Amino acid sequence: MTLPRSRDTAPSAANDDTIAKRYLAEMTLDEKATLLTGDSVWTTAAVPRLGLPSLRMADGPHGVRRTPSTGSMAFSAHAATCFPTASSTAATWDPDLLREMGEAIGREAIALEVDVVLGPGVNMKRSPLCGRNFEYFSEDPYLAGRLAVGWIDGIQSLGVGASLKHLAVSNQETRRMSVSAEVDERALREIYLPAFEQAVTAARPWTVMCSYNRINGVYASEHRQLLTDILRSEWGFDGFVVSVGAAVHDRPSALAAGTDLEMPGPRPRRVRSVIEAVHAGVLDEKVVDEAALRVLRIIVKASATPKGGSFDAAAHHALARRIAAEGMVLLKNDGVLPLATGGRIAVIGRAAKEPRIQGGGSSQITPTQVDSPIDELVRSAGGATIFYSPGYDDEQHERPDLVADAVAAAADSDVAVVFVALPVAKESEAGDRTDLDLVPQHVALIRAVCAAQPRTVVVLFNGSAVVVAPWIDGAAAVLEAWLSGQAAGGAIADVLFGATEPSGRLAETFPLRLEDTPAYLNFPGDGDRVRYGEGVYIGYRWYEARDLPVAFPFGHGLSYTTFRYDHARVSTTSFADVDGVTVFVDVTNTGGRAGSDVVQVYVRDVEASVQRPNKELRGFAKVRLEAGETRTVEVRLDPRAFAFWDVRRRAWVTEGGAFEILIGSSSAAIHAVIPVTLVESATNSSTLTDMSPLQDWLADAAGRPGALELVQSLAPILGGVFGKAVTDPDDLDPHFHSYFSAMPIRDLLEFAAPAGGPEPEARLLELADSRRTAVSGHASDSPAFVGTRNG
Ligand code: GLC
Repeated sequence: MTLPRSRDTAPSAANDDTIAKRYLAEMTLDEKATLLTGDSVWTTAAVPRLGLPSLRMADGPHGVRRTPSTGSMAFSAHAATCFPTASSTAATWDPDLLREMGEAIGREAIALEVDVVLGPGVNMKRSPLCGRNFEYFSEDPYLAGRLAVGWIDGIQSLGVGASLKHLAVSNQETRRMSVSAEVDERALREIYLPAFEQAVTAARPWTVMCSYNRINGVYASEHRQLLTDILRSEWGFDGFVVSVGAAVHDRPSALAAGTDLEMPGPRPRRVRSVIEAVHAGVLDEKVVDEAALRVLRIIVKASATPKGGSFDAAAHHALARRIAAEGMVLLKNDGVLPLATGGRIAVIGRAAKEPRIQGGGSSQITPTQVDSPIDELVRSAGGATIFYSPGYDDEQHERPDLVADAVAAAADSDVAVVFVALPVAKESEAGDRTDLDLVPQHVALIRAVCAAQPRTVVVLFNGSAVVVAPWIDGAAAVLEAWLSGQAAGGAIADVLFGATEPSGRLAETFPLRLEDTPAYLNFPGDGDRVRYGEGVYIGYRWYEARDLPVAFPFGHGLSYTTFRYDHARVSTTSFADVDGVTVFVDVTNTGGRAGSDVVQVYVRDVEASVQRPNKELRGFAKVRLEAGETRTVEVRLDPRAFAFWDVRRRAWVTEGGAFEILIGSSSAAIHAVIPVTLVESATNSSTLTDMSPLQDWLADAAGRPGALELVQSLAPILGGVFGKAVTDPDDLDPHFHSYFSAMPIRDLLEFAAPAGGPEPEARLLELADSRRTAVSGHASDSPAFVGTRNG
């Protein structure tokens, strides 16, 4: 039986489902189990008997790594555009640009006959030391999520699937296949999961890749709560979960938890273990069916996109150049940039000839071409004369001769541009950095050149924050060029000479010292356990809470023009927690040339009942303005922008009260603060139990009247304890507060119930009823308390 998609039927989810179910109905248990383990490194098993094709995957996320043979894990692959890595694309703060990049990668995947590209990576940059940070977007989940949505929308709009990775809490490479990330529930929900949540709910990736590590002791591949309860039930994910490499340990358990497809293959033992588990009654065949159906749906969906042909390499190279330029961050500029197209320019550093364009490991692309920065500078230099001096050798030896030559060239020029790169080994999959420093020889070179030439520009190639303090004072300008793909050289020339405005903004904080970083005391952990002791405080959330100075704050980036923010306002200053609010601000380009700025909107909870970060990014918009132009920028904040994860209710909670909306051009440069009031709907009031302390009952709008009445009725006894009458707990002496207000309400009743009065149990029920009536307007039959002393 062959069930090809009817070409005249428009693809639709319902259609895919019907076809996939027809395949499933025809498949034997052996065929289904075989489908759930790779047939090669990159493909799933075809079923020729049924005409079922295989699905081909290839690495991403900044290009297509399509190996010549399906059985090969080789890094050298078919030529494809090496787009900027996430370190660079994140700094564009431009989801539309990410969408364009996703579309281009989709076109290349089609030409290279790839159905699913393994990316993007949305893990948080918990520590700048993580060797794979270049593949991840940010230290902020909201920013990472928005960018991932752009990328996924782009590639999937062409009928090529994305694989969102690595779910979850994969924030280091050290012992990545065995380490357990010990993370608390709030940090998980507020920091480590939201980018995945946003990408899944808004962009519906075809697949999600689970991570290698354990989360609180359980391997991600076997984490049922994560892969099934959260990913599928809560977020509505309907694609398949894939594990790649050695992420799965017990195949039947992983399958039952929600890992549908294990790659790579072939692995007959794995297939057998599934079949045997079904025969032994340990694994329900329904689990196999469900997983197979999820994989089949994607195979059917992918087969609707005809593959083959070619792609426009020149156009994609031009796009890579545009994205790279948009992501470059001008960290510092005393006015030396943009460079004049005249005079004498000393270009120093081997990286000017051999730029570092990507990180090491599975994401490595074989580029279609690589721009040489120096050649591009020469091309853009107009009448300027360019001199080159290598500055250092490729072995990182001390080379005083090369430094002396560079210093002479710099001294003899009008301006010097020094290119330095972190070594590949420092930023590769499977290893972490141990420091944030540049190579000592490079630091020595920068210092020597800056001493000889005050007009020195430093260009950095690195995939995550570096320490700049030892050398930055001497530099006139610093351009963070990241690992920005095969067109980095051209993009650097565009930015240095001002053909393109530097509009990148940091998606991660640059700390002053490694010792200041959030995970410093807990990275990479002890053996197979890494404690996320900093909780929700990573990135700017940490530096602000600790009031630590940083080298460059999150969101920072200079421009060649200047901007002014006026008339910051909101659609309403008081709004219900279910509504959210819209923020407006007029941005004017006050300089003499066109440029872009990123308006960043942060929220501060002024009177939270739990400890919360000082401010959190909840919205942003990139705006391009001609010289003198003004535009009103609008940013919508939905209710989630004000919420925190309440571990007691296991839910997002928006607490009523005062908030501030902060509008700025970095986390540190806030131009306007708007106080607003959030009105909490009664149904949203927090969960109280019989074991909640009196203070929580008194703080809860619906619980307070009953609790007050209770306290008043217990007044003679409570008063007896303190030798005075008690009528209103707010009037009590401080000792009452510290003693009774901390007492769980059940214990208060046990402690103070009058002899001969109603039993504590009856009073508790009364109390719960009065609160429920206040919340819903009527008493109901639902249980009186959620969670009690007994359960
Ligand atoms: C590893 C990497 C993942 C990559 C895969 C295939 O699992 O962690 O990012 O996509 O290998 O190379």
